[in-house]
Amino acid sequence: MEQYGVGDDIDKVLISETQMQERLAQMAAEIDRDYAGRDLLLVGVLKGAIMVMADLSRKITIPVTMDWMAVSSYGSGTKSSGVVRILKDLDTDVAGRHVLIVEDIIDSGLTLSWLQKNLLTRGAASVEIATALRKPDAAKVEVNVRYLGFDIPNEFVVGYGLDYAENYRTLPFVGTLAEHVYNN
Ligand code: XMP
Ligand code: MG
Repeated sequence: MEQYGVGDDIDKVLISETQMQERLAQMAAEIDRDYAGRDLLLVGVLKGAIMVMADLSRKITIPVTMDWMAVSSYGSGTKSSGVVRILKDLDTDVAGRHVLIVEDIIDSGLTLSWLQKNLLTRGAASVEIATALRKPDAAKVEVNVRYLGFDIPNEFVVGYGLDYAENYRTLPFVGTLAEHVYNN
């Protein structure tokens, strides 16, 4: 961990940098195939999805455009509130567009099921979901994930865009935090 400057804050690495990049390449190949000849708009969910958006979009070879939304369902802690608020809306009109929502993680699924419906009511031609990570609780709400990176255990994770109190987003892997970080 020394090269990452996070001391002993990381307890275990769940998804290594190599695993993540290899899986994203496979997802990009599927997206290339599925959306060939179509006009595709990638919608990233700030801030967590910045890394997956940057890496996935560069592995996709068909032409795409990109836009961003910021929604909040979490405070600064680690529990879902179930309340979704738009903090930053799209700049793009999605009417008639094929939209692929790019997410870092689906936990309860509340954010994504809400977002998918929201974009459909704006008249998008299709709204699919690509997520790097998914937790088992996501199964409780109806979220149809078209492109999935990894299913992970029901633990709070950081890295690869995911934060704890805004820290650890820049780590190239996904890991869990050591107990002492929460007790500070
Ligand atoms: P829901 O529960 O609505 O939540 O699917 C999705 C959003 O919650 C955040 N989230 C996490 N953030 N580590 C994080 O840093 C986690 O383990 C985690 N689980 C959920 C995240 O912003 C996601 O978009
Ligand atoms: Mg997120």
